[in-house]
Amino acid sequence: MKLNKIAVIPGDGIGPEVIIEGIKVLKTIADLDQRFQFEFTYFPWGCEYYSKYNKMMDEDGIEKLKEYEAIYLGAVGFPGVPDHISLWDLLLKIRKSFDQYVNIRPITLLNGAPYPLKDVKREDINMLFIRENSEGEYAGAGDWLYKGKEQEVVIQNSVFSRKGTERIIRYAFDTARREKRSLSSISKGNALNYSMVFWDQVFEDISKEYPDVETSSYLVDAAGMLMIKDPKRFEVVVTSNLFGDILTDLGAALAGGLGLAAGANINPEREFPSMFEPIHGSAPDIAGKQIANPLAAIWSASQMLNFWGYESYGKQVLAAIENLLIEGKLLTPDMNGHSSTSEVGSRVVDIIKAAF
Ligand code: NAI
Ligand code: MG
Repeated sequence: MKLNKIAVIPGDGIGPEVIIEGIKVLKTIADLDQRFQFEFTYFPWGCEYYSKYNKMMDEDGIEKLKEYEAIYLGAVGFPGVPDHISLWDLLLKIRKSFDQYVNIRPITLLNGAPYPLKDVKREDINMLFIRENSEGEYAGAGDWLYKGKEQEVVIQNSVFSRKGTERIIRYAFDTARREKRSLSSISKGNALNYSMVFWDQVFEDISKEYPDVETSSYLVDAAGMLMIKDPKRFEVVVTSNLFGDILTDLGAALAGGLGLAAGANINPEREFPSMFEPIHGSAPDIAGKQIANPLAAIWSASQMLNFWGYESYGKQVLAAIENLLIEGKLLTPDMNGHSSTSEVGSRVVDIIKAAF
């Protein structure tokens, strides 16, 4: 029997509440299929840890996590700890140390999900965003000169390396080829006259290696508009760190809200662990009340199943989420329901068992 080792960082706020539900689902699948099991190891890192020990994770935290194939993360961030500390000292530290340079965010409108756009059909919203996750606008390069003085200057540089740009674009082409779907690149070459001109050039060059993949290029502002006016034109999408961050939140809103949006941070070479997380934050406003929607965390668990090659189970989990939405009976308040976090998770488990 194969043992898949998962490091679990429940984190802050609603993180622990939603992660438990994803783990319920993973355990259910592993119990139904005798060929593999999951082993969960919990790490109590996050803002509460910071308030006790003045650090977001152990000094050797990265070394500890290296032992695992996958990391399952709830959310980090809580009032009292500045967001740039919780983000840089935990989340970004993991993404960078483990070279998780691909961020995959599916934007798929499931049947029964809340539906904000009037003029498009459900099946028209089915995008797979592939966001550069290691450099670009979030490289952390810059300076803060003459702080607090009259001549104060801040510089925030973007970093687009040839290696970093080529590998994300190639990953996107491989995905589009495998899924037999078109690939859109989103950039801004007219205004960002170095970085994005370079991006467009690399996209153009690599496209020659993939004559079977249909491609389009968009400026990011137009892409934002078109995602709303004509979302079906976007299938697989590749874009930079900043643009991907913004557009996937827009995408999350198109496909049912933050309660349903999941993301995977992948190290494709599998030299280091990959990390799976709901894209929402720790939602301090509703934390501890058992009303957080666990579906985003469960969706990210299905991405983890895909990562291990159990794609049929990944699909089954997604189908269970969709069935729950269609039933419309057990939903959390953000979806106008009255159920608790654990009632929703347990219902997903029951649907999976019934379909097995
Ligand atoms: P947020 O995503 O935590 O919350 C935004 C709004 O959506 C809130 O009204 C919240 O109640 C609601 N919401 C979010 N997830 C929900 C869920 N599963 N079910 C029901 N409602 C949900 O974003 P916000 O408020 O900007 O950030 C709060 C904290 O989380 C901050 O400290 C921030 O830095 C951190 N954060 C962490 C992230 C991560 O760990 N990946 C991502 C985004 C924010
Ligand atoms: Mg974001």
